[in-house]
Amino acid sequence: MTTQARPAQRPLDLPRRIVCLPGVYRPQTDSVLLAEALREASLPPDARVLDICTGSGVLALTAAQLGAGEVTALDTSRRAVISAWLNGQANRLKVHVRRGDCYDAFALGTFDVVLANPPYVPCPPGADTSAKWDAGPDGRSVLDPLCANAIDLLRPGGLLLLVHSEFAGADASLRQLRESGLKAAIVARRRVPFGPVLRGRVDYLNTRGLCSAETASEEVVVIRADRPNRPN
Ligand SMILES: C[S@@+](CC[C@H](N)C(=O)[O-])C[C@H]1O[C@@H](n2cnc3c(N)ncnc32)[C@H](O)[C@@H]1O
Repeated sequence: MTTQARPAQRPLDLPRRIVCLPGVYRPQTDSVLLAEALREASLPPDARVLDICTGSGVLALTAAQLGAGEVTALDTSRRAVISAWLNGQANRLKVHVRRGDCYDAFALGTFDVVLANPPYVPCPPGADTSAKWDAGPDGRSVLDPLCANAIDLLRPGGLLLLVHSEFAGADASLRQLRESGLKAAIVARRRVPFGPVLRGRVDYLNTRGLCSAETASEEVVVIRADRPNRPN
């Protein structure tokens, strides 16, 4: 029996015009990895999509570009909200942009697809956590509530795509998602060289036993979690 090789996917075109007000996260490898996973997942026709932690809005705009019926983008940062709105206008893509966190999302109903590239970098206790990537001592200050409650944001048959670093604990995310009733698995992973933030965090990660002093890269994973159509 011969196995047919899958045709190689062409590189994903992210929305072309992306501006970020000062302090807003510029799309990086994690953003691209999640956007590729979204394309791979194939949006259902007229999908209702929520992008939590939208930053520049790049993932919300990618969902609109891929044919989503209705896209909502949510972020706690005022500058991110303004950036995402501007980027929607610049790319002529319709996205509803709101300020808020995943708890505010519950008022918006349920979705076919929820996307999240949240802050996930572990940071020392007492550190300034205003940075858009820092997420408490274990990197899970946003991930924990999101993984525990994502099921309530999904329609039956809906799916969550979530990206984060190995340092924030993929096993913890998978466990929380599964305990809530979702079917969860890692669908993509990529090794990424440390940028300036993680280079400055190596000692702290080392004290937590997450890497050695010589580590110079992290694995970024995309988790897909599906809400079954019927209760198990
Ligand atoms: C790593 S950036 C991701 C930006 C964008 N989604 C991307 O992939 O390029 C994380 C974003 O989450 C936002 N954020 C932080 N805490 C949040 C929360 N609790 N709820 C919603 N957004 C949050 C930050 O303001 C920041 O814009």
